[in-house]
Amino acid sequence: LTTGIVRVRSFRPSDRDACLALFDANAPQYFGHNERQEFAAFLDGLPPTFLVAERDLSGLLACGGIEIYPDRGEAEFRWVMVAPSAQKRGLGRVLMLLGARHLVERTAIRSILAYTTPQSAAFFGRLGFPTEIVRDELDYWTEGLDLRLLKIQLPRDARDVIAEQLERYPHLRV
Ligand SMILES: CC(C)(COP(=O)(O)OP(=O)(O)OC[C@H]1O[C@@H](n2cnc3c(N)ncnc32)[C@H](O)[C@@H]1OP(=O)(O)O)[C@@H](O)C(=O)NCCC(=O)NCCS
Repeated sequence: LTTGIVRVRSFRPSDRDACLALFDANAPQYFGHNERQEFAAFLDGLPPTFLVAERDLSGLLACGGIEIYPDRGEAEFRWVMVAPSAQKRGLGRVLMLLGARHLVERTAIRSILAYTTPQSAAFFGRLGFPTEIVRDELDYWTEGLDLRLLKIQLPRDARDVIAEQLERYPHLRV
């Protein structure tokens, strides 16, 4: 990941199997196998604000996006996952920041929910925005995999915070 350009682009139907492979690589540690069908159905719905990160010839390294619920005035971070060999190098953060940027630039929504696990909650907490725990629930995803529901609030200067953070990843092309 430190060599070569990683490109971030919108999800295409032909990415379906590669996204499911990212899921499989992170299950059962972070996702329950029972969630696979739900993820496949999500992808089949051609989510409009779902991104993938790829490096030439090595396939997809990560995917993740944001789903907007205009009626509720809220958004949700959805299905963010990074290939195990590419984790902790900023890809997850960049995908989430781009989702947040989409919100800031295109909508009036500033509140984002993340249905995650206690294991991955710290990642969302480190995006740079005020974050609170809404709810914890044992065995929510599957036995042994608990829910931690987070609410992330984008501040007034979110646009600047996002731009500043994205500058830290010059090898990523969006
Ligand atoms: C969680 C996940 C998406 C994070 O993406 P990533 O590319 O590995 O993480 P990043 O490098 O962007 O991390 C950003 C920051 O969060 C921290 N972080 C990442 N994962 C973390 C974790 N599991 N626990 C604590 N901190 C974490 C990083 O250390 C980094 O900290 P910094 O502010 O010091 O730089 C990725 O590790 C993953 O795919 N995990 C398995 C699937 C999963 O749990 N998805 C979330 C389901 S809701």
